[in-house]
Amino acid sequence: TEAPEDDAAHTVSELREAAKGCRRCPLWRDATQTVFGEGPDNAKVIFVGEQPGDQEDLAGQPFVGPAGKVFDAILDDAGVDRLKVYVTNAVKHFKFEPRGKRRIHSKPNVGEVQACRWWLDHEFDLIKPNLAVALGATAALSLLGKAVPVTKMRGQVIEREDGLRVFLTIHPSFILRIRDRAGKEAERERFLQDMKQVKKLIAA
Ligand code: URA
Repeated sequence: TEAPEDDAAHTVSELREAAKGCRRCPLWRDATQTVFGEGPDNAKVIFVGEQPGDQEDLAGQPFVGPAGKVFDAILDDAGVDRLKVYVTNAVKHFKFEPRGKRRIHSKPNVGEVQACRWWLDHEFDLIKPNLAVALGATAALSLLGKAVPVTKMRGQVIEREDGLRVFLTIHPSFILRIRDRAGKEAERERFLQDMKQVKKLIAA
């Protein structure tokens, strides 16, 4: 509904600029800023997370907080250069519940995911990657338009009707939440294997 924003963007940086004023859903009201995707506009792969967290909201960049640190370290171990990939989120504003001085992450709903899909689709249209990586259920919902059990289907590639290949895996914050050391290490290893698979798929 906000006119010139819409189809005026011919580059990712124009799109990012337009997204600063996004009012497609109410989440902009409480968030600090839009956190748009980041990376080269000729990237071969787009990683899609859920939504910015507290630190991303403040920094204005995706995956720079605790989940981002885990993600970066494992990408590095898999031999994937984060600077060569494009990283974004299904939802581009931080959704949270205040709890004292803290802001607690709250999961975006289907309407918010659908509203923000407009931006995600345009990121894909402009970058034209040969692979998408869904990091967790919200990303998978946005990319595939339906709920998929990512823990069961992780490691699989789903081809969309438009030909886009979508690799399914868990969200890196899942690793952070595991308490016991052995369990955490095992989950990290599984995610590393997924990222090694992604590295092969990018080249294919
Ligand atoms: N979690 C996400 O899904 N995205 C971010 O950018 C940070 C944490």
